[in-house]
Amino acid sequence: MNERTLRSMLSVFLMSGALAAAFAAPALAGDASAGQSVFKSVCSMCHSNQPGQNKIGPSLFGVVGRKTGSAEGYTYSPANQGANLTWDEATLDKYLIAPRTVIPGTKMTYGGMKDDEKRGNLIAYLATLK
Ligand code: HEC
Repeated sequence: MNERTLRSMLSVFLMSGALAAAFAAPALAGDASAGQSVFKSVCSMCHSNQPGQNKIGPSLFGVVGRKTGSAEGYTYSPANQGANLTWDEATLDKYLIAPRTVIPGTKMTYGGMKDDEKRGNLIAYLATLK
């Protein structure tokens, strides 16, 4: 093997590393624009992304960082009202997999989202609602 072959092998190796990193990054960070379509198709029948607009469920504007049961003007179940959690990304992640295990007695009838990638994208989108 001559030096030239070695060099071209090395550059292919480096390029594939860069490509792998480029593909891995959005999955880790969550893709908010993909999350917006998840929100529209799955959550928006019950939740608005606008401040102060409550539907069947409370407005999700500003949900990341707020306390459970604090959307103004919305009548929560006692379970959600009294849950005493902060909706950070980790709590939302657990909740969206299985709402009833995080808040037993919630009146949200949505069953949960098992797909990690969809959920990650959705949470990235929720974090933009502020
Ligand atoms: C069938 C209607 C329905 C669907 C679909 C739905 N939700 Fe809900 N959601 C509710 C209701 C009703 C509540 C209020 C629960 C309570 O008071 O017990 C709620 C509560 C919540 C809360 C707690 C809010 C707070 O202020 O404490 C979050 C977060 C939430 N939903 C996120 C979502 C997301 C994200 C989706 C989409 C994956 C979704 N929900 C889909 C009806 C729904």
